[in-house]
Amino acid sequence: MRLPKAGTIEISPSILSADFAKLADEIAVIESAGLNLVHLDVMDGHFVPNITMGPPVIAKLRKYSKLVFDSHLMISEPSRYAEAFVDAGVDHITFHIETEAEPVKLIEKLHGFGVTAGICLNPETEVEAIEKVALLCDMILVMTVHPGFGGQKFMPEAAKKVERIREIVGDDIRIEVDGGINPEHASTVVSYGADTLVAGNAIFSKTDRIGAIEAIREACK
Ligand code: DX5
Ligand code: ZN
Repeated sequence: MRLPKAGTIEISPSILSADFAKLADEIAVIESAGLNLVHLDVMDGHFVPNITMGPPVIAKLRKYSKLVFDSHLMISEPSRYAEAFVDAGVDHITFHIETEAEPVKLIEKLHGFGVTAGICLNPETEVEAIEKVALLCDMILVMTVHPGFGGQKFMPEAAKKVERIREIVGDDIRIEVDGGINPEHASTVVSYGADTLVAGNAIFSKTDRIGAIEAIREACK
């Protein structure tokens, strides 16, 4: 599974708000909706004040899905754990610029492992922090909430950074937005130049997950 080339709008449902006792079933529903990605939020209780899943859970899920595993590492020392996530079967790894002193090395390491690489900025992190490495990445992730929890309120000012990042990276690199995305905010971030939309609560808080995905899709048109 490969991250689709830039040029399409992709929705990457975050299973953080899904039923953790039924993750494989929840992912199957997304797959049946015709999506290509699923967003896996990895939290370590250190970089962010919450703990979610690690390689053992992801390795089990891998057997049940052909979706692109879009992993978002909200962890300290991502370089130390990258290989374990690759072995577990993720296709894409995003790490936070705030956690890595040598981002170029880590991006090269990820490419060497055969996965695509993403870099993420927190709402308070300036675009300048990623400017030098942005063109080496396959996807830039812009947080539109403080990382750590699903179901938070979208931060419009943080989303505006997408416009500037799009100017820097051109059309060949994906820009993903993560946090508080619903149909209303989806159209805003797409107008700024985002092409990959994470949505957790907007999908998994609804009984009709497929209807919720459709509503985001429609809003992106
Ligand atoms: C937040 C996570 C997000 C989050 C998105 O730390 O990185 O992926 O789960 O969930 P919603 O869409 O509910 O904000
Ligand atoms: Zn995320």
